[in-house]
Amino acid sequence: MRSRRKKWAAPYLEAHKEIVIEKIDAQDKFFLSRPLVLEVGAGKGDFAIAMSERLGGSYLAIERDVSIAGTMARRLENKETNIRIINDDFDNVFSEDISLRFDAIYLNFSDPWPKKKQGKRRLTASSRLDKFYSLLLDEGKLYFKTDSDILYESTLENIESSKFKILERYDVYVFDEKEDAMSEYERKARDKGLAIHKLVLGK
Ligand SMILES: C[S@@+](CC[C@H](N)C(=O)[O-])C[C@H]1O[C@@H](n2cnc3c(N)ncnc32)[C@H](O)[C@@H]1O
Repeated sequence: MRSRRKKWAAPYLEAHKEIVIEKIDAQDKFFLSRPLVLEVGAGKGDFAIAMSERLGGSYLAIERDVSIAGTMARRLENKETNIRIINDDFDNVFSEDISLRFDAIYLNFSDPWPKKKQGKRRLTASSRLDKFYSLLLDEGKLYFKTDSDILYESTLENIESSKFKILERYDVYVFDEKEDAMSEYERKARDKGLAIHKLVLGK
């Protein structure tokens, strides 16, 4: 997702340390609550805001774009929230081994990187799938949704050579409002009438 750089965003993130954290401190009480949920590429936070209220516990939203992370943070201002934002790339956040294990990981409409040579950049490239696997509790689940056929197919291929099992597979996913929430990109894709693909992965 490209966004116009918003000048206010970096100082805003810097000034709101109650919501925006620099890095993971596994001893911090935020990370001791359950369920502990991770969303990578959280965008402006539509999904995070709805799901964090529904799930309770602690919800870590990672978004590398400063303007988009700023928009998400501003939407949480003066609200009681169980969300913390890290404005960084997933690979940097988890570059060192940490003892944390998550109950759930959400990947919503991740950048598809449609060219073959861009495959390694995808969030579901094999190396990142391995990392997600190691970050989940034994009973934890990874939830993946996309409207990109290329990303969906490459993800299915990469799962085959990973340790993950596919628990649920919906080639055309009908939105389930009892269990799920809609991100900005899902809403846009549905408005255009695009098919949404969904996978639930487990150990
Ligand atoms: C296509 S947008 C989807 C946003 C949101 N999940 C939604 O469904 O509306 C993908 C988002 O993931 C972020 N992103 C992509 N790769 C990332 C990474 N490696 N670490 C953190 N954020 C990432 C982008 O900055 C962008 O905001």
